[in-house]
Amino acid sequence: PLITFVSHDGEAKEVHVESGTNLMQAAVDNGVDGILGECGGVCSCATCHCYIDDAWVAKVPAAEDLEKDMLDCVLEPKDSSRLSCQVEVSDELDGIVVHLPESQF
Ligand code: FES
Repeated sequence: PLITFVSHDGEAKEVHVESGTNLMQAAVDNGVDGILGECGGVCSCATCHCYIDDAWVAKVPAAEDLEKDMLDCVLEPKDSSRLSCQVEVSDELDGIVVHLPESQF
């Protein structure tokens, strides 16, 4: 699937990844600035915060409770906030647009 990451200053970067990877890994593997992923994807650092584009929010499976708790700790949370390590990329999400926050902490 194709993912477009849009930085806080509006720069878009398109990456292709395998289905089954997660958005954090997709960003880190492709040198996308703005996603840190310090805990390696186990939902304990919240440095992989991102915003799912409004057009895609409804297509992404909902966050589990642990992720929701962690999202309370991020800077500038919005309704579209997610921890990118908890969003698995599937064929249904081909073309998804993900916005990056100004800072992770
Ligand atoms: Fe640590 Fe997502 S990489 S919470």
